[in-house]
Amino acid sequence: MLAPLTNQQSHENGQLSDEELYWLKLRAKGQFGLVMTCATYVQENGKGFAGQLGISDDFHIPSHQRLTQQLRAQDAIAVIQLYHGGMRSPENLIQQVPICPSKNEEYGARALTLNEIQEVKTNFVQAAIRAQKCGYHGVELHAAHGYLICQFLSKEINIRNDQYGGTLENRARLLFEIIDEVRLHCGASFLLGVRLSPERYGMDVQEVKTICQRLIDQNKIDFIDLSLWDSFKLAEDKKYQNCSLLDHFTTLDFKEVLLTVAGKIRNGEDVHNILATNVDFVTIGQSAILHYDFPTKVIENSDFKAVETPVSRAYLHSQGVSDKFVEYLKRRKGFVADDS
Ligand SMILES: Cc1cc2nc3c(=O)[nH]c(=O)nc-3n(C[C@H](O)[C@H](O)[C@H](O)COP(=O)(O)O)c2cc1C
Repeated sequence: MLAPLTNQQSHENGQLSDEELYWLKLRAKGQFGLVMTCATYVQENGKGFAGQLGISDDFHIPSHQRLTQQLRAQDAIAVIQLYHGGMRSPENLIQQVPICPSKNEEYGARALTLNEIQEVKTNFVQAAIRAQKCGYHGVELHAAHGYLICQFLSKEINIRNDQYGGTLENRARLLFEIIDEVRLHCGASFLLGVRLSPERYGMDVQEVKTICQRLIDQNKIDFIDLSLWDSFKLAEDKKYQNCSLLDHFTTLDFKEVLLTVAGKIRNGEDVHNILATNVDFVTIGQSAILHYDFPTKVIENSDFKAVETPVSRAYLHSQGVSDKFVEYLKRRKGFVADDS
């Protein structure tokens, strides 16, 4: 799977640009079996980045249709990542005070009312319905990386004392309610995935395992996408260092639900090592930016190694990465050569 990768190539109104279409189409051509879009906002006040893709309104539909037609033409599975930034949406971008489960001084965010939580839920569900109309095979709910759904899950950030705060069941209520409604409205064959962070962002490994178990037992979603940042590491929290972070999850019985993981799966050997565990398919970020055809390369040569970074702007252009995306990538230390 192509990892969801924010690339800032969309138009300011959230419509997909030709550059973004090309970037994703090329990945489908390079044999990514599942092409995931970047985090796509479902509500205007959930926008997190300039040049971010949107699916908050029907006027976004035609540009998504162009994308899904192109991805389907390459036999790729087209999935859109649904996102709300919550407190992490910059105030100067959304022109209002950002929202959060609870008031958050660090981010200058205000607490959502109960009515507004219902509105957020409706907007996620409407975005999924819209995605289905656009021709996507499915959606992934972004419940990782400290964005809104993750903020609800976190016992550090979510200090509400109503039915959406307190116990883990309450903190996970929004996520599970969105899942129920997406299934209800989009039907059994529409793909539904959930991206989770097992640690950091106020998350606790054991709590995330409990959420995974419930997702598995309920059997309403198709896949769990764990964003590990490093698929080979130990957990940061010492009390979970008895095995690798990944092993905490591969030892769960996934039953009908598939598991994918992302984080430093950079070359053919990494792909094979991860697939030798109970992971069903791998999710590739950095190496997919570096090689539009990373899957083809690994299928042809199991020892394939991605090019070393930093790489030049011209090299990135050759892989379908436009200047706007190059500028964003420059923020990643050591990725783009200094003189590019
Ligand atoms: C430029 C860039 C943009 C990203 N954008 C997103 C995003 O929109 N949504 C998301 O869930 N993760 C995002 N991530 C995280 C990736 O999906 C992936 O989990 C992470 O890069 C680790 O995989 P890798 O080591 O193969 O790059 C982004 C990462 C990078 C490098």
